[in-house]
Amino acid sequence: MKLRVNGREHELDVPADMPLLWVLRDRLRLTGTKFGCGIAQCGACTVHVNGRAQRACVTPVASVEGADVRTIEGVEGASAKAVQDAWVALDVPQCGYCQSGQVMSAVALLEAKPAPSDEEIENAMAGNLCRCNCYARIRQAVRDAADSKGATS
Ligand code: FES
Ligand code: FES
Repeated sequence: MKLRVNGREHELDVPADMPLLWVLRDRLRLTGTKFGCGIAQCGACTVHVNGRAQRACVTPVASVEGADVRTIEGVEGASAKAVQDAWVALDVPQCGYCQSGQVMSAVALLEAKPAPSDEEIENAMAGNLCRCNCYARIRQAVRDAADSKGATS
């Protein structure tokens, strides 16, 4: 099966129903994407599939054949830069475990909605849990990233 991840084509011999998360972590060694719950409840495994946030733990790899899969290692562009800068400026992470999923959800939101409302931010980030309870800083960083993008575009 052919899989395109972060702009690179991979030829993989894997079962069609293997979760994308296992392929990314175990076959491609892209370990920035985390395993949390395995049942689409925590958001730790969030990646982009054709630019949209998707839970890799419940995504059969065959369903993304031919798609553009992006992980935290390969996310790029103005929204990704704004999110990363805001994350650093606000010193968002504590343990860091949930953070790649949080960043991927935030970037997908800003790609789709450059100036989201507080409610849209809340909805977009609601599926990403944080055991360290960094929610206030995460929401603020998404707002700051949206503002800084607005200022530069
Ligand atoms: S590991 Fe995929 S949503 Fe929790
Ligand atoms: S920073 Fe620790 S789980 Fe979110």
